Amino acid sequence: MAGYILAIDQGTTSSRAVVFDADMAIAGVGQQEFTQHFPASGWVEHDANEIWQSVLATIETALAKAGITAAGIAAIGITNQRETVVVWDRKTGEPLHHAIVWQDRRSARFCDELKGRGLEPTFTAKTGLLLDPYFSGTKLAWLLQNVDGLKARAAAGEVCFGTVDSWLIYKLTGGRAHVTDATNASRTLIYNIAENTWDDELLSILDIPKAMLPEVKDCAADFGITDPDTLGAAIPILGVAGDQQAAVIGNACFEPGMMKSTYGTGCFALLNTGTDRVTSTNRLLTTIAYRLDGVTTYALEGSIFIAGAAVQWLRDELGFIKVSSEVGALAEGADPAQRVYLVPAFTGLGAPYWDADARGAIFGLTRSTGPAEFARAALESVAYQTYDLLEAMKKDWQGHGATTVLRVDGGMVASDWTMQRLSDILDASVDRPTLLETTVLGAAWLAGWKAGVWPDAKGFAARWKRDRRFEPAMQADDRREAIAGWHDSVSRCLTKRN
Ligand code: G3P
Repeated sequence: MAGYILAIDQGTTSSRAVVFDADMAIAGVGQQEFTQHFPASGWVEHDANEIWQSVLATIETALAKAGITAAGIAAIGITNQRETVVVWDRKTGEPLHHAIVWQDRRSARFCDELKGRGLEPTFTAKTGLLLDPYFSGTKLAWLLQNVDGLKARAAAGEVCFGTVDSWLIYKLTGGRAHVTDATNASRTLIYNIAENTWDDELLSILDIPKAMLPEVKDCAADFGITDPDTLGAAIPILGVAGDQQAAVIGNACFEPGMMKSTYGTGCFALLNTGTDRVTSTNRLLTTIAYRLDGVTTYALEGSIFIAGAAVQWLRDELGFIKVSSEVGALAEGADPAQRVYLVPAFTGLGAPYWDADARGAIFGLTRSTGPAEFARAALESVAYQTYDLLEAMKKDWQGHGATTVLRVDGGMVASDWTMQRLSDILDASVDRPTLLETTVLGAAWLAGWKAGVWPDAKGFAARWKRDRRFEPAMQADDRREAIAGWHDSVSRCLTKRN
């Protein structure tokens, strides 16, 4: 019986496929890393074909581990790294450039120019975003300006633009569907989140031809049917959401005031604001949390670019650990008397600083500073950055209602030490769910619910389970001093541009 759900999580550094059974339990997982291209300082690219091949390989592994064939899958859900830009030939499906990844800073000058023309308020009012190279719009504009003949071909309808979800759906359906969902669209800088349409004025400012844009659907919708020549069966794709929005769903943050923070490559905290589009006065983003049955639920988002990536840096560049999971134990052994701060502005700083030119630094080194202190500083930088996000969020949300306990997920939250530190720095409780695969679960729920094989939002939320609640246990003075040290360190990294 086709009662299984296949969820694809196409992330920044790896692709994952997970098969869930009818009881929402994991039956099989496949994961594969792929190449990161750094063609110039601050530039980050992926090969879209390599991404596609990695997704196919992980699906095969997940099916094999679950002991089923594609025919056993009732529906597919997709979640993905957001903002990353893919352009491809509508007819042949060949990518026309490497994908430009969300972390890429190449359009920083263009963003400055737009800001200089006084256009940021227009973009923010319509999209909820800021003029930062993080978002897709200025990356796409860069491609249209720099790839020979691209603009004319795009205007003639020969080229497709999409975020990674669109690209994968196009490939899975054998080129039949060019679609995306409202959450991915909301990260492009050209999508009007109040009207739920591509915005003509913004398209004209960025000089992007409308003919290259995908159709935008609800998160649970008919996105297309897989080509039997590709997966061996015709399976409906019924759920799509950007990875951070999928984590909101997977963590069952369906009520206004509920918030989650996901620790992957970066860290992204989202607060569900219901059907209200809350405008941030503290440099956070307003974004679409999900759109179901035509009803849009919004969120405030704080985005930081480096979280788990700081641990990868300790592992791959400094060689202080062999595998990421060693970092908690290393940090625990750090000399408590040393106050070392890492500002991981490796690709600039995101919310609430938004400084594309800032670069990383480490402060407070002494003769006895070693790998343990570096590890602690890296993990603490994640807690301090979350603190900055939640402080901004509290201010923006004031007067709207209460917030609930922060739910966390992502690879880093498996470390008890890191979660305790997070709770200490936030001076707030932190809830860790039993299932840490919340992102992929969110995508699976969209597809499973739409297929009629999984419960509705209420029934799904009732099944969310806490593994552990972390409570703050740090002296108030120590905490204040630690946070002041962090802010002093950040201020030394900021450039004058902002
Ligand atoms: O906005 C970027 C985000 O979607 C990337 O997520 O999990 O690949 O770090 P992740």
